[in-house]
Parts: sequence; C-alpha cells; structure tokens
Amino acid sequence: MVTTPIYYVNDKPHIGHVYTSTVADIYARYKRLQNMDVFFLTGTDEHGLKVEQSAEKRQIPPQALADENSLVFQEVMKANEISFDDFIRTTDERHTTQVQAFVEKLLKSGDVYLGKFEGWYDEGQEEYYTETKAKECNYESPISGKPMVRMEEENYYFKLSKYESKVKELLATNDSFLTPKERKNELLQRVNDGLNDVPISRTNFTWGIPMPGDEQHVIYVWIDALMNYITAIGMAKDGEAKQKYWPASMHVMAKEISWFHAVIWPAVLMALDLPLPMRVHAHGFWIREGRKMSKSLGNFVDLTVLNKFSTHYGLDGFRYYLATEGPIGAQDANFASSRVQEVYGTDLVNTFGNSTSRTTAMCVKYFDGVLPEKSDDTSKIFKGYDWKSICEKEAAEAVRAYENLELNKATQAAMRIITKVDLFITETEPFRMAKDPNEQENLGAVLYQCLEALRISACILEPILPNKIKEMHAGLPLYANVSDSMGKRLVWGGLKPGTTVSKLALFPRLDPLDENGEIMKEEAQAPATSNKPAKKSKTKVEKVYSPETQAKIDAQGALIRSMKESGKTNDDAEVAEAVKILKELKA
Ligand code: MSP
Repeated sequence: MVTTPIYYVNDKPHIGHVYTSTVADIYARYKRLQNMDVFFLTGTDEHGLKVEQSAEKRQIPPQALADENSLVFQEVMKANEISFDDFIRTTDERHTTQVQAFVEKLLKSGDVYLGKFEGWYDEGQEEYYTETKAKECNYESPISGKPMVRMEEENYYFKLSKYESKVKELLATNDSFLTPKERKNELLQRVNDGLNDVPISRTNFTWGIPMPGDEQHVIYVWIDALMNYITAIGMAKDGEAKQKYWPASMHVMAKEISWFHAVIWPAVLMALDLPLPMRVHAHGFWIREGRKMSKSLGNFVDLTVLNKFSTHYGLDGFRYYLATEGPIGAQDANFASSRVQEVYGTDLVNTFGNSTSRTTAMCVKYFDGVLPEKSDDTSKIFKGYDWKSICEKEAAEAVRAYENLELNKATQAAMRIITKVDLFITETEPFRMAKDPNEQENLGAVLYQCLEALRISACILEPILPNKIKEMHAGLPLYANVSDSMGKRLVWGGLKPGTTVSKLALFPRLDPLDENGEIMKEEAQAPATSNKPAKKSKTKVEKVYSPETQAKIDAQGALIRSMKESGKTNDDAEVAEAVKILKELKA
C-alpha cells in the first residue's frame, strides 16, 4: 500500500499537493512494474473548524463545500494522471463509522480518557501546545507565525505518554521507518523532551465525527484524518479482502506533517494493536524565489500555472522536472521556470529524444527498419564499451534509487547510459561504416547495442515518463509482454534481431515559459535558458510548425548533426539529401 496525505479541502490545490501525489505515483508505478500488488490511496480531509467557518462565510452547509472542493482535488489527480486505486473522503460513511469503531476500542482499552486541558492552541494547524512548547515558539505558530490562543477545555485525551519509550525506540533503532534521516533526528529530539497525552476531541465546533457515546464532542481532525489509511481498506470491518494491504509500505508527505505520521500515528496503531507502516517519507518543500509559499504572500504555484506547464511540456515532460528537481530529500527546492526549460531541453530533448531519434533513424535508413543482429563481440569494434555490464550496473543503481525514493538518481542512471550511447556513436562512426560494404555487420552490431541500451534506459524511465514510453514502445518494442516485470525488462538482450523499428521523435523542442506559465517573448529569452540555436537577426520572424512537423524537423536536424559529427560535409551526397529533406519539411 502506498499513500499520499489526504488533502485538506479548505485549501486550493497547488504544486505541493501535485508533487506529493506525483512522488507517490512514481513509486506506485515502479512497484507495479515490479509486479507487486499495489493499492495506491489518496483522498480528502474534510472536517474541522476552518471548513465549518469557510462554509459559514459562503452560507452553504459544510458538506456542500467539502463536496465541491473534494471534486476539485479528484479532478486535479485525474488530470495529472495520478494512478490512485481509491480516493477516500473523511465524510464517507465507510470512514466515519470505522473511525468511531476505532475510537471506541481506544476508549475501552483506556488509551482514550476524559480529562481537562489547559494550554495553547495553534488555530491554523489545529494543534495543541503545552506551556513549555508554546513558550519555546514564542507563543506563535511555527507554521503561520500567528499568535497561539489560550485554551481551557474538557477533552478526551489519547494516552501518548504511555507509548513514549516505544516510539523513541522505533525512531532511534529503525533507520528506514522515517526518511530522510534529518527528519528522524528532528523528531527524536522532540520525543526526547517527553510525550504528553494529546487531546483528541473538540467541543468548540460541530463539523466532525461525533465522539462515540458523547456527542457534545467531535473527534480531533488529525485522528480522524490519520485513520483514513486503515478505514479505506476496512481494517475495522470483518472479512475485508483489502486488509491484506496493511501495513502500508510507504506513506509519502512533506516535512511539516511528519510529527503526526511518525509519532502520533505509530502510537495510535500500537494502541489499536495494529502493525506499523513500513516507511514514512517526509520530503522537503517547494519554495519560490527562496521564500516559503503561503497564502499571505500569495506566491503559490497554483493550478492555473501548473496546468500551463504540463500542457506546454506535456504531462511527462513536467513530471520529469518534478521528479528530478523536486524537494525529495531534506532540502527545499526552488520552483523556477528556467530550470523546467533547461531540464526538459538537456535531458529529454537533447539527450533521450535526440539519441532515440538518431538511432532509430539509422536503423530505418540502413536496415529498412529491421533490427540487425546483435554480436556481443566487444573486442573488435566496441573499443572497451561492455554494454551489457554498463547497462546492468546502471539498471541496478536505478532500482536501488527507486526503492529509496531517490528519483533523481534513477533518472541519472538512465541519462548516463544515453550519454554513453552518444559517445559510442561519435567514436564508432556508423555513418562512415554505412559507406563501406565490409562494415555492414559491424554497423548492425553498433546499432543493436545503441538501441538495446536505449531500450534499457527507457525501461528505467517508465515510472516517470509512462506516456512517452508507451509512444516509444510503438516504434521500438521495449518488452515482449506487458506483464514482464521491470526486473525482466532491465535484462540485457531484450531486443530481438529482426524486430521492426520505426523512426521516433519523442520530445519536440519548445519555447521557454515565464514564471506564470506564459510563453516568453523572444527578446525576453535568456540565451542560457533557451535550447534553440542563436538567431541571426532579431527581426527575423520564426516560423511556427505543427508539433508533428516540428518533431520531424528536430529529428532531421539531429541526423544532419550526427552526420557532420562523423566528419561529413555538405558536399557529401547523403548530407545533401538529408538537408534537402529538412528544407522540404520547413517549406
Ligand atoms: N490534511 C493534512 C494531511 C492529513 S494526512 C492524514 C494536510 N493536507 S494538506 O493539503 O495541507 O497538505 C497535503 C500535502 O501537501 C502534504 O504532504 C503537505 O506536506 C504537502 N505540501 C503542502 N505544501 C507544500 C509545499 N510547498 N511543497 C511540498 N509539499 C507541500 O496536511
């Protein structure tokens, strides 16, 4: 089971939500490709004071507000092709009844009891603070900076103190429970200060799940929300088949909610006598121009902007940026349109796309699109390129990286293979070989190695670029059966000689976007962020082609460049022919 946090319906979706979902999605896709039975859960968190207040302001019932906003999140997830298996809402009856059953169990075991609370409350985070903790934070919310309010109320408490030593032991001895390790150190410090019992009910509003046996109280929104992970798979019901998915293998989220997931949640599960999730990964934050994104600064990368980026670069192109530049570890990451352009241009257009179009074009041109024999004779022409071991080593590194959620490292493994393919082409000069009838066999062998290495790179990238890889599979078969596991796909030699290959143009060259997702005017394009060749004259009007034609132009350009790299000039008949085709395409 892989989960995202359930998204708060009082918020508008932004890059933070899409990112957490994308990370979980890539992991789920990777696990499915490993032929694991994955249950990927997401949903919306719909109760609490703030939702009640927002609904009041709009003079609609809180349920209507929740319905409206939950739908927005569901649409965002679908539009971003997040491959979730279930979308749970905390207002679903299947959730509320089971939360009540779990709380009842905790009341019976004495892990929940009625007591009096006096202390401080962070209204924004809906979180209680003891006098000591509040003082440390200067009586201000560490998240929003707003003053905490004094609270005195009768509440139901969860006996967190009872689990202090067990939680401490969990964090201190299980290195893989909470990642990255910086999070673990932070939380351990806090746990070492001691764990107090936490209030888990409220009486100052009604928009929540009623406390069993005491309807004056509603269950605290965090307890309600955390339980989604077990209500969705029917853990409080009898004979639910989905219970097999517990414990979750991965809870993905950002750092500010790691306390709830790695301290409160395991303690609740211990009290319920349920196994603990295998891993909680709390990634960093997307920030903008070095500053936290917040409502007060109004600097969120919001849905409108996100949609512009994913429409322009394609869903896969933009996912690749999120996966490679996102705050997957302890550090925050700055969202910058110039980096989206650079990463797309460098890795996807100039490396993956270009190499694929060059090699498939050569296969079509020299072998009528029929994949030649492989010949693994490394001594003769391969000059030290042992492709089998190069690919096996990088594939193993990619698998290791996916397992650890080091998404950028997985992509780097693929990029290293592709860069080597390019170097190999420069060194072996297939264009020269093509002219020599005695070199036909070697030419075939070179092309086989290139295409097979590209096949393996593509299989590495599949969890991140699912659509592009599907498109590629149509021109260069990447696996024999769709059910072949990633492990099988990554074994050297998957491409069979005799297979039909067609020319591929995967990633069109694109203009850069500005920070708001608008296409940048030519004058505003910084040379470093543009992947277009320098223009001769600023007044010259650039022709705009359809994406298909542009892709063909790009592929043809790449072909000419590689011919020239191999020492050919415009006088060469083959180059002249290629240039003629390019001119026709541009006409
Ligand atoms: N409803 C709670 C989660 C309950 S889970 C039992 C919640 N929801 S949220 O909508 O506020 O946040 C959802 C996810 O987005 C969380 O993982 C949160 O950490 C993440 N992000 C919110 N802002 C973010 C960034 N600026 N950058 C990256 N992720 C961030 O918390």
